[in-house]
Amino acid sequence: MSTIIGQPMDRTDGVLKVTGQAKYAAEFPEAKLAHAVLVTSTIARGTIASIDTSRAQSMPGVLLVLTSRNMPGLPGAKSASPPAVRRLSLLQDNEVHYSNEPIAVVVADTLERATDAARQLRVAYQASSNPVTDFESARANAHKPAPQQGRAVETLRGDIDAGLQAGTVRVDAVYTTPMEHHNPMEPHATMAAWDGPDLTLYDTTQGVTNAQAAVAKILGMKPENVHVISPFLGGGFGCKGSVWSHTALCAVAAKEVGRPVRLALTRPQMFGPVGGRPRTEQHMVLAAHPDGTLTGMRHDTYANTSMIEDWTETCPMVTRMLYAVPNQATSWRLVRMNVGTPTFMRAPGEMTGSFALETSMDELAYALQMDPVALRLKNYAEVEPQENKPWSSKHLRECYHVGAEKFGWSRRTDTPRSMRDGHTLIGMGMATVTYPANRSDASALARILPDGNAIVVSGTQDIGTGTYTIMTQVAAEALGFPVERVSFGLGDSRLPRAPGSGGSQSAASVSPAVREAASGARRRLIELALADGGSPLHGASPDDVTVVDGWVVSRADPTRRDPAAAIIARAGGQPIEAEASAKRGEERERYAFHSFGAVFAEVHVDADLGTIRVARVVGVYDVGRVLNAKTARSQLMGGIVWGVGAALEEETLLDARYGRFVNANLAEYHVPVNADIGTIDVTVLDVPDPHFNSLGARGIGEIAITGVVAAIGNAVYHATGVRVRDLPITLDKVMAV
Ligand code: MOS
Repeated sequence: MSTIIGQPMDRTDGVLKVTGQAKYAAEFPEAKLAHAVLVTSTIARGTIASIDTSRAQSMPGVLLVLTSRNMPGLPGAKSASPPAVRRLSLLQDNEVHYSNEPIAVVVADTLERATDAARQLRVAYQASSNPVTDFESARANAHKPAPQQGRAVETLRGDIDAGLQAGTVRVDAVYTTPMEHHNPMEPHATMAAWDGPDLTLYDTTQGVTNAQAAVAKILGMKPENVHVISPFLGGGFGCKGSVWSHTALCAVAAKEVGRPVRLALTRPQMFGPVGGRPRTEQHMVLAAHPDGTLTGMRHDTYANTSMIEDWTETCPMVTRMLYAVPNQATSWRLVRMNVGTPTFMRAPGEMTGSFALETSMDELAYALQMDPVALRLKNYAEVEPQENKPWSSKHLRECYHVGAEKFGWSRRTDTPRSMRDGHTLIGMGMATVTYPANRSDASALARILPDGNAIVVSGTQDIGTGTYTIMTQVAAEALGFPVERVSFGLGDSRLPRAPGSGGSQSAASVSPAVREAASGARRRLIELALADGGSPLHGASPDDVTVVDGWVVSRADPTRRDPAAAIIARAGGQPIEAEASAKRGEERERYAFHSFGAVFAEVHVDADLGTIRVARVVGVYDVGRVLNAKTARSQLMGGIVWGVGAALEEETLLDARYGRFVNANLAEYHVPVNADIGTIDVTVLDVPDPHFNSLGARGIGEIAITGVVAAIGNAVYHATGVRVRDLPITLDKVMAV
């Protein structure tokens, strides 16, 4: 019986964070630290004719101006393997592929001097007269990319033409979403220090092992000579899931000046060189019988990528698995533009895809004059419809029912614009939520120390989600120790290997390894006690003893007990260690693994002004077993909050004349603040997944952003009768009727 796992334990690193003791990549002081500033292009396409560095180089304190003229050739500069290792801008040539592309690095003894000197560079460009900056016109040259992460570019099941014709009620609509950029509180930063052939990097990364491998490859080094440390991250969300140019440039700069160098991106530099969410255009065609049974569905998408690499926002993934539609076709195409390469951004594909799918389902519900929840239940997928596999665990039906009940869905009147309170139009909308359950191989090491405390470590990351805390809980429970006596270490490439913290996989991948390692250490502690003539438990059978609060105890006679510290002391004082790995098995051959949920939103729209407030959001989630009720709730709330931002606010605006983002700052790139968020009510079903891993826990980092945008848009339609198919849903679009 679980006593620690699942408890709403406070974050073990909470005090460190609120007192400023938690150190982030840009905060590691090194003796003789020098400061680098990244210089980026001001044109979107062309070549650099020259960079006059003379003035910058003569300024006081300036140690280095790195441009393509003096940049060393890098063995792996072009050998990157996307998407984990990106096509980088490493000053190996004079080509410019997008605005804000790295073109130089200036290093000085202070940040102020480096910043000042960077402004004195005189860059002459030969700008191309035709940068590709307009998505609509570039779409004519769209191409079919290679599959990304093994995902089929096109799918077809059944007979799509017959299916679309069989349904007498149809929806045919195009949905568009804008480019967006990650804005975690902490922008990317790297601190690089060399010691002979060894490189230490303090880096904002969602994967210390991936970063180690990528940097080693780029610089032509052995991975064992690269040590990556990342104890805390001020938010990841996907942008820190790849190694980008500045990390390698910082390492080179440090080598060149012979001093440790810190390079922190500015907020505007978050817009371009480190990825973002691409613009998407999604064409949905749905057909159904009058009773709501789906007969056919098409989902064809375009999304932009850059000129240097194909990266796909895989929108139709959600359409392929969510409903039991017998005839279906989906596809994606990429549109090359002179912008930075897009990347993973919280639920990449699922966020944008669920907006199109779940909005089109709402439109179909109105066309059928059917309740939106009933339409979804009518087409409930009892098995995974694309591969016809059973779900490992699916409780979506319960999510709809519990959500509708908590939200008060029965109070909703069917007709748009039928609910109001004075000048306020009230709208209620809902959507299905889903995200795949991912898992990779991971390992961990547990060590019981002579003082009776335990340390458990794994080379995973805490990207702000609560990894330190949940792993402490898993370890403590498996050890039989109180949580106060267990500490958890992570964020270091020298620790036992664990996967990158992306795809919502860390909790699900690492916790089985942590549990295995901790159980192994516990077994050894028991063995030591039983074999020890000095122990009150000497001679007992292993089955008759357990570990409680750090004491080995006889089950039959709890007065026979022995604390870990005494056991270790009598055995010679050496720590007890156990290492373990947890790997995926054959379960994916037999089951489809997904998490699910239902989200309901109530919006208030000013009838005269079109201003939209999200008054309430109710979300109910089936994510397997919950490891910590508090961090889980925080994750899910955070996903909903971001969904509100994506629905109503977020949009990176590209000036097509110059290919520059005009709102590359937090004043004009709008994200929700507290005043934008109404009541959020999160419920987690907490049903363990019997087939996924030994804990039954699936990931929760990304799921809650899915569905929210559609639920809000559907509520806006219900409030106003205006269907906005282009994100963000702003008041001008609501009033433009
Ligand atoms: Mo997530 S977008 O895979 O960090």
